[in-house]
Amino acid sequence: MNEEIKFELEIKQEEIEKAVKSFNEDIGIIAQSRPNITEFEEWLKKTDYFEAPASGRYHLSCPHGLFVHSYHVVIALKKMNESLGTGCREDSIALVGWFHDLCKVNRMTVAPKWKKDKNDRWIQVGGYAFEDKFPLGHATKSLYMLMKKGLQLTKDEALAVTHHMGPSAVGNNFELKSAMENSWERSPLSLLLHEADLFATYQLDISEDCVIKHKF
Ligand SMILES: [Fe+2]
Ligand SMILES: [Fe+2]
Repeated sequence: MNEEIKFELEIKQEEIEKAVKSFNEDIGIIAQSRPNITEFEEWLKKTDYFEAPASGRYHLSCPHGLFVHSYHVVIALKKMNESLGTGCREDSIALVGWFHDLCKVNRMTVAPKWKKDKNDRWIQVGGYAFEDKFPLGHATKSLYMLMKKGLQLTKDEALAVTHHMGPSAVGNNFELKSAMENSWERSPLSLLLHEADLFATYQLDISEDCVIKHKF
């Protein structure tokens, strides 16, 4: 992309640095129960996980969005687990927090878009084009990729990733709704991941502590 073209949203450098530090610590925690996380991490570095947006148009639609959104989910998960005393395993919190949206890697390409600036002139700003070459569905794809890349998930972790989108992925389908509710009754991790994902998306991802909004 042309160096001159900027995104309307930019994640603060210090937020990215905090995310990197937390990620490295959590990889160490996951490694205690899943030694092959090292190979997984090597593969992850070859994807756009650290640079991709969290979404094409909505939350953190800017470079590093997916990585920083995942960091925010981890923050919320850890706080909820501690304050509610739910006793979820540290490695599980780290694994589902960082990788629940793994389905979002390698599906966005930078595609500048046109908009009018404050002087009513057309300018180009950063944007994304979406192409999912393996459209397995959101949570299902994350779960498939984690397993395919060799991470053995516990039942709680599998339930959490599968149901993290909550009612929005269920609609009026009785069977899916019943599975989601059953999962949330049985697994605090599953319920916490959904709630943490919402809190990250609607609070932490848009916080002025995290992002700079550029006006053109
Ligand atoms: Fe998600
Ligand atoms: Fe998410």
